[in-house]
Amino acid sequence: MSNERSELPENAAEFAELNDDVFGRIASRYDLLCDLFSFGIHRLWKRRVAQRIADEEWSTLLDGATGTGDIILKLLPQITKQNRHITAADISEKMLGVAQQRFGVRANNVKLLKLDAERMSSIEDESIDAYSISLALKICNRQLVLKEALRVLRPGGRLIVLEASNIRWPFLQNAYLSYMSICMPLLGWLATSGDASAYKYLLKGIREFPSAENLAIEMSNLGFENIEFERLSLGIVAIHIARKP
Ligand SMILES: C[S@@+](CC[C@H](N)C(=O)[O-])C[C@H]1O[C@@H](n2cnc3c(N)ncnc32)[C@H](O)[C@@H]1O
Repeated sequence: MSNERSELPENAAEFAELNDDVFGRIASRYDLLCDLFSFGIHRLWKRRVAQRIADEEWSTLLDGATGTGDIILKLLPQITKQNRHITAADISEKMLGVAQQRFGVRANNVKLLKLDAERMSSIEDESIDAYSISLALKICNRQLVLKEALRVLRPGGRLIVLEASNIRWPFLQNAYLSYMSICMPLLGWLATSGDASAYKYLLKGIREFPSAENLAIEMSNLGFENIEFERLSLGIVAIHIARKP
């Protein structure tokens, strides 16, 4: 089946949900996989990005590709202001189902929405103060996602992105990629009873994703300004924060 989105070059993992519902299949094991693939370090990254999101000025936040709601779960205890409204959106109903279960009674404070981050037609222009997306830009067409973020953000609104990045020392980056090439298939195979898709996409996404500097340039070319980034764990991932003019 041909899919227009899978042919666009900016999808680092060449992932298309319409062709492969991998997240639907692994939804109940997704959090375990994150722990295995990152040896638990993703919790530190997510805690940090949740802190960065909480520190920004906003009353409406949209977390795109929210998955099982990990970022929102870490964000909720940090939110002290009462007038903050959060929408957690994802293209996979199964991932959203897990998020809803995990939120429990706290789900009252969060609106869950099935939404394609590449085409958010149900979200009005300039209606959101902050847009976050974590560990998903590499499996989406990032140009489309970033353009949509720009459209829905109000002027002055903030974009916050957590994504795979690059270790600045090439020998360490190569060692990390070699290690992941061996480790990820093995752990992924064990945790998913042989379903190769999840780690195939993630590994390709990590390899092909632009450096922190180049992602900042892409954001700037699309029209974001005041772009800053923070490398975490030597640069294995980075948090980018940008402002809509
Ligand atoms: C690697 S998970 C990241 C989940 C979560 N943000 C986290 O940090 O744990 C990627 C998520 O992106 C979602 N996704 C993939 N393509 C999408 C799209 N086009 N629009 C919205 N969500 C998408 C998947 O369903 C999955 O839940």
